[in-house]
Amino acid sequence: MAILKIARMGHPLLGRRADPVPDPTAPSIHRLVADMLETMADANGAGLAAPQVYVPLRVVVFQAPAERTEGELAEAERFDHTAPLTVLINPEIEVLSQETEGGWEGCLSVPGLRGFVERPAHIRYSGFDHEGHPIERTAKGFHARVVQHECDHLDGILYPQRMSDLKKLIFESEVRHWTEASE
Ligand code: NI
Repeated sequence: MAILKIARMGHPLLGRRADPVPDPTAPSIHRLVADMLETMADANGAGLAAPQVYVPLRVVVFQAPAERTEGELAEAERFDHTAPLTVLINPEIEVLSQETEGGWEGCLSVPGLRGFVERPAHIRYSGFDHEGHPIERTAKGFHARVVQHECDHLDGILYPQRMSDLKKLIFESEVRHWTEASE
């Protein structure tokens, strides 16, 4: 396993659509997933998409703690790495309700910043893991947000492109001014 370099906003690979994985169980995909998991843990991220490590394939990994309250943002935030870890290959997302929810997001490809993003609150997602097992789940709250953020990477979209108010694109060090204003 290896800790991989993470591409930053502006690299062309982060702006293009990633390709489907022909065989999720291929040894090269196993190696990629292992390296992505190690890289995500090392960088203290909640999720990581393959294009972020310069691989233009439809693979994401994430670890979404169920209890994290939407809108909550601690300055020295540490993700709960005991939460269930998911490997999702060739994902599909279906929006289940018109309702949207706002929450603060960060991205390992946009280091040092946070942005307030409105997204559909309730989704169903499906795909395969790297053993070839089908995955199908519904998700709300932070879980739904992480999945949508990561899958956006596969379509070349970074969270600032989802923001409606760029006043709420801020440095992490200024988050304390916004924690009450963030609903
Ligand atoms: Ni990201």
